[in-house]
Amino acid sequence: MELFGIKDFDSILVLGILIFFALIETISGHLKNSKRKGNDWIQEAGSFFLLSGFIKPATILTVIFLGNTLFANTTHFLSSWSILLSLPFYLLIDDLLQYWYHRSAHEYTFLWKLHRPHHQAEEMGYFVSYRNAVLYYLLMPNIWWMGICTFLGGGLAVAIGLILKQIVIISSHSTVKWDAGMYQHNFFKPFVYLLERVIITPAFHHGHHGKSQVDGISEPNGNYGNMFSIWDQLFGTAKFAHKFPKEYGLPINPKENWQAPMLYPLVHAKENNSELSKGFKHEVTSSNDAIIIELEKGKNYLWCACGKSKCQPFCDGSHHGSKFKPVLFEAKRNGKVKLCNCKITKNPPFCDNSHEALK
Ligand code: FES
Repeated sequence: MELFGIKDFDSILVLGILIFFALIETISGHLKNSKRKGNDWIQEAGSFFLLSGFIKPATILTVIFLGNTLFANTTHFLSSWSILLSLPFYLLIDDLLQYWYHRSAHEYTFLWKLHRPHHQAEEMGYFVSYRNAVLYYLLMPNIWWMGICTFLGGGLAVAIGLILKQIVIISSHSTVKWDAGMYQHNFFKPFVYLLERVIITPAFHHGHHGKSQVDGISEPNGNYGNMFSIWDQLFGTAKFAHKFPKEYGLPINPKENWQAPMLYPLVHAKENNSELSKGFKHEVTSSNDAIIIELEKGKNYLWCACGKSKCQPFCDGSHHGSKFKPVLFEAKRNGKVKLCNCKITKNPPFCDNSHEALK
């Protein structure tokens, strides 16, 4: 799109934002200390080029072609709207679609397998935002929405919206934690507390990538927002920890070669313990007997609610790709407690003898 007399201004700016964050991460030494392997770079760079160079343009052109063929008499009504109206119209619907798509990718097994590469990254960085299976992008509703808005004459709103989205999304994945100091500073605190209620900040999104809730900071089963945090607040999935996790990634993380994470379901993983291997299924590991276990006062524990963890009664992340969420609790005293292992207690994580009804 031509803006300010410059052809493809939006694409140049979107790329410029990525390069800007890449430069800051490089200068601040993150790249030098990065533990990323060749596999990670192939996935991230590969997804970036496929998404930007093929999937997005092809989707938009397909929608415009279909629109012109099937709805030739459609009024391109967005072109007559003020940008002050068409921009929020495009962005809010885009973000709501993305919230539910992303949330579904955590709650449904097939979509989880397409989104899982995004969470395999064990460190954050500007490029992590591009790490998903190709099919995840092809099914992404907001890329189709982008095409619909362009067809309806909202090209300018889409172009400006993409630039704004790029700033928020890349910054929330980046290691440039611009909000970290603000949470500690009395002058900036009110500003950042207000800002995080509207847009996704690095702390909010890093929490979503944290390895486990047991650190009291991470929320891998929430903080699904893409640009705005309003949807998480509205649908009860927001956690504002104001801190950054120490560990990122998945509790169980077989490091497959890039082919399966990028090309699933066309390509399956060779590793038998990978969720991307052929016929993989999480086995039920819970039983009808409670587990008596020694806990340490003041320590956090994460109780498995799905019954599929391999380290019962605690969560090992096997619930990913389902609607189950583990229960975080802090031990109130040292000593033995009886934890539920039948998973039907009405007082999780403690046993309330509900399992007797199963015998
Ligand atoms: S493994 Fe996390 S809830 Fe079961």
